[in-house]
Amino acid sequence: MFKADVYSKRRKALRESMSEGIVLILGNVDSPMNYPSNPFHFRQDSDFLYFFGLDLQGMAGVMDIDNGEDYIFADDVDMDDIIWMGPQPTLKELAAKAGVSKTAPSAKLADFVDEAKNKGRKIHFLPPYRGENKMTLGELLRENPCQMNSRASEELIKAVVALRSYKEPGEIEEIEKAVGIACDMHTTAMKMCKPGVKEQEIFGTIEGIALAQGRGPSFPIILSINGQTLHNHDHNNILREGRMMVVDAGAETNMHYASDITRTTPVGGVFNSRQKEIYEIVLDANMKAIESAGPGKSNKDLHLEACRVVASGLKDLGIMKGDVDEAVASGAHALFMPHGLGHMMGLDVHDMEGLGENYVGYNDEVKRSDQFGLAFLRFGLPFKPGHVFTIEPGCYFIPELIEKWKSEKMHTGFINYDKAEQYLDFGGVRIEDDVMITESGHKVLGKPIPKTVKEVEDLCR
Ligand code: GLY
Ligand code: MN
Ligand code: MN
Repeated sequence: MFKADVYSKRRKALRESMSEGIVLILGNVDSPMNYPSNPFHFRQDSDFLYFFGLDLQGMAGVMDIDNGEDYIFADDVDMDDIIWMGPQPTLKELAAKAGVSKTAPSAKLADFVDEAKNKGRKIHFLPPYRGENKMTLGELLRENPCQMNSRASEELIKAVVALRSYKEPGEIEEIEKAVGIACDMHTTAMKMCKPGVKEQEIFGTIEGIALAQGRGPSFPIILSINGQTLHNHDHNNILREGRMMVVDAGAETNMHYASDITRTTPVGGVFNSRQKEIYEIVLDANMKAIESAGPGKSNKDLHLEACRVVASGLKDLGIMKGDVDEAVASGAHALFMPHGLGHMMGLDVHDMEGLGENYVGYNDEVKRSDQFGLAFLRFGLPFKPGHVFTIEPGCYFIPELIEKWKSEKMHTGFINYDKAEQYLDFGGVRIEDDVMITESGHKVLGKPIPKTVKEVEDLCR
């Protein structure tokens, strides 16, 4: 945990940015996997971690906007717990670590909420994303648990996003640690990227690195020689010459800050000329986007710049044609890069996505596009110092999508389908780094991870 005053300051800032009522932040509870006492790996709610820091199940935090008091509702362990779990700190001791002095048993939360309701006070809560917390909220508020998402407080969502979007120095340190773990994961995967090796073996090895150094992967590891499938979680292939392995993987630190890195490695460690040509295009898009990231730009600008680099490179290879600016404006390049350039990152790998993507990445001035490709950009806003986000251009040859667009005669002025069809067995390339906006520009976070053709080939050797 950070020091107690970090959490006290965050709660004070939140209370001061809101009008009235109480804020209720439910922590997560253990969730059964295949029978009641065999739970999934416990992951605390990120908003609870941000404001209360305690990484234990079954807690609720309350901030009273009107009287400035904070409370934690949870239960002290009993003898049964001690027998199975060993001695534990008291609730009072735990709450003190978060700078909270007022505590009460979980059972008292319902009375507290009832009292606030009876006085006509506003009860602010965030959109629940787990069934257990939907049920708890429904029970506390005596409302339909299925409707809890639509009853969440927009005022609270906006106030939380306004705080969590700007990372504190301590948070940056954590994210850099998370990139350090990702560096070990990726360099290990590169060294293992040899013909005959099963994807599962590499997957398991790097998941183990994430668990040995932190809380495990920050999202299910994407690792495949079929990198044209953007989020490929099937790890049953045997690596073979002529393919590239896309690894999109990050770790959580012990305090749950994330990293999210992608590297693409040729099986056998040497790029063939066709692989090198596409790889260099994506690398160029990654490096140019990083270079131009800074205050005064928006992530939407950066996304479009990267798309132009990809389209221009594909035009040089004869896969695309026509005017590059017009091609990108029309969305033709999205055949080869059908996703956004990146997203905010912090306590969640897609930071605050549970609060609603458009609250995090868009506002009244910057609206989400509905064009295929650009519509998937999660974060389109102007950059401000303290923003942390990913830059992850890619180039993919998705046979089904190429055939569909061809048959529908989509963007025939910008795409040479005959040439694109020569790449149906190619796969895909993605290169992703984690970047922070500073007063004067940007900083690529964490330890550098081999990325140029030479660096990747040298490491594999
Ligand atoms: N975690 C997948 C990605 O956004 O890169
Ligand atoms: Mn990623
Ligand atoms: Mn990402």
